[in-house]
Amino acid sequence: MTRVAIVTGGTRGIGEAISLALQAQGFLVVANYAGHVEKAREFSARTGIAAYRWDVGDHEACIHNCNDIAATFGPIDVVVNNAGITRDGVLDKMSFDDWNEVIRVDLGGCFNMAKATFGGMKSRGWGRIVNIGSVNGQMGQYGQVNYAAAKSGIHGFTKALAQEGAKFGVTVNAIAPGYIDTDMVAAVPQSVMDKILTRIPVGRLGQSAEIARGVAFLCSEDAAFITGSTMSINGGQHMY
Ligand code: CAA
Repeated sequence: MTRVAIVTGGTRGIGEAISLALQAQGFLVVANYAGHVEKAREFSARTGIAAYRWDVGDHEACIHNCNDIAATFGPIDVVVNNAGITRDGVLDKMSFDDWNEVIRVDLGGCFNMAKATFGGMKSRGWGRIVNIGSVNGQMGQYGQVNYAAAKSGIHGFTKALAQEGAKFGVTVNAIAPGYIDTDMVAAVPQSVMDKILTRIPVGRLGQSAEIARGVAFLCSEDAAFITGSTMSINGGQHMY
């Protein structure tokens, strides 16, 4: 039986690597994306992975599109909540909209996708949810009260939902990536990045594939006894 996996933000960056890793592991992958239409078309043509466009911060859109995907491809057994945005700025310069939009998309997206899929996973007695948090949700980051709060929220959300899924064979875990070589990190000013790099003991940015391997493992049968955990993949930047 081929299991269906949805990866949000799954056509670019870390999400693209996750989509490919799950496809290589035998899942029928469907990728969600929000904005980059041309990139999504190129991704689908290259990989054969269907890409659906919707905003994960929109509750109704998550329900509607997950129902549509399930009707087309089969029940959804795996969800990787990877979609996320940043609106960095110190508190004095951060608008309410900058705060709200990051919470709505990064944290609200996890709730919306779980509402759309968790019940089905429980009723079938098998499921995997992997939420992409962040080292900055674990340790905080200057200029990111919105993002750090959302990502920290994801880690709490993961531990709470894991308790609800455990007796139904549904595991819920998080990965906390450090600074990965993606467009999001490339947007950080070079002078700031130079300082951050000095705090990464491994001495380099991570690669998207290094996050994807962790996700693929957490989605495997071998990971059935792992739930409510956070796997930190950050080059040693933060250890606890
Ligand atoms: N700790 C203490 N002080 C700091 C600091 C830090 N980490 N970073 C900057 N400052 C200080 C600066 O030295 C400066 O002080 P002075 O005015 O006395 O010189 C002051 O804060 C203002 O700094 P900026 O010039 O950078 O201020 P800005 O308003 O132009 O920009 C900012 C602020 C947008 C937050 C910018 O610093 C920035 O982009 N920082 C990077 C934030 C970051 O790491 N984002 C991660 C994005 S990637 C991601 O989020 C993925 C993931 O999961 C890891």
